[in-house]
Amino acid sequence: MNAPTTAAELIDHILTRFHETHRCELPSIAQLARGLEARGARPALADHLDLMADALEMHMFKEEMRLFPMMEQGGNTLITQLIDDMQAEHLAHAEVVAELTRRMAALVAPAGTEPQVAALRAALDKLFDDLAQHMKLEDEQLFPMFAGWSAR
Ligand SMILES: [Fe+2]
Ligand SMILES: [Fe+2]
Repeated sequence: MNAPTTAAELIDHILTRFHETHRCELPSIAQLARGLEARGARPALADHLDLMADALEMHMFKEEMRLFPMMEQGGNTLITQLIDDMQAEHLAHAEVVAELTRRMAALVAPAGTEPQVAALRAALDKLFDDLAQHMKLEDEQLFPMFAGWSAR
């Protein structure tokens, strides 16, 4: 596929490549963490992953229901505030990622759980990498397309 260039193309790409992917992956990652905790692994990660999934779901829902439709109609004077809110939420997601990364680095798991720990580590690495790409694309390419509305 050619690199998306219009707002509508970028939005399509973001929905399929990132929003759907996060929704698919997060439940099984939390389940993997919960399984390890049940076997005594610490510190806990599963509750943090559930909170992250909830926060991300609310964020993506706001983008899908309010921000992206506004963008597809060309923007309006309310869009600047909404974009500011989404950017603030991106910073909050990044803080949660940092906390989960600290917990994962400190994880002590019982002998015999090495495959599950490796699977959790790989799944989190992919999720965090996707999430960073997702937010960067919105912050640096999609949102600036509507910067003109703040000057009106
Ligand atoms: Fe998004
Ligand atoms: Fe976002």
